[in-house]
Amino acid sequence: MASELVTNAYLYSSGPYSLRLRDAGRSRIRLSVRDTGPHIPAPFRWDAGTPEELAERGRGLYLVTLHVDCWGTYPMRDGLSGQGRMVLWAECAAKA
Ligand SMILES: Nc1ncnc2c1ncn2[C@@H]1O[C@H](COP(=O)(O)OP(=O)(O)O)[C@@H](O)[C@H]1O
Ligand SMILES: [Mg+2]
Repeated sequence: MASELVTNAYLYSSGPYSLRLRDAGRSRIRLSVRDTGPHIPAPFRWDAGTPEELAERGRGLYLVTLHVDCWGTYPMRDGLSGQGRMVLWAECAAKA
């Protein structure tokens, strides 16, 4: 999950990006990736559909949403310079 979100930040945003991991309680770990993208990527919006059956791209975030317990996104309007403007996060069980 972390690799998918970080790879997207590398590929699709042009400024600094960062990965943050923290204990989210309830035996979950939350991973958050912040980057400078001004727009929430379509696959990570509530109204996103499913990818085309034969599509070779555009599946990564869809797969993330299927395999985590919960996910979301929020803008960072007042971040310090260079700290990014959008966060995508996902939570999954930290224990089996
Ligand atoms: N961090 C991001 N910033 C801006 N656009 C993004 C970001 N992550 C994903 N996107 C957009 O969402 C699309 C789908 O992403 P994804 O589901 O990961 O598939 P893929 O990486 O194979 O294109 C990308 O092609 C890109 O246009
Ligand atoms: Mg991707």
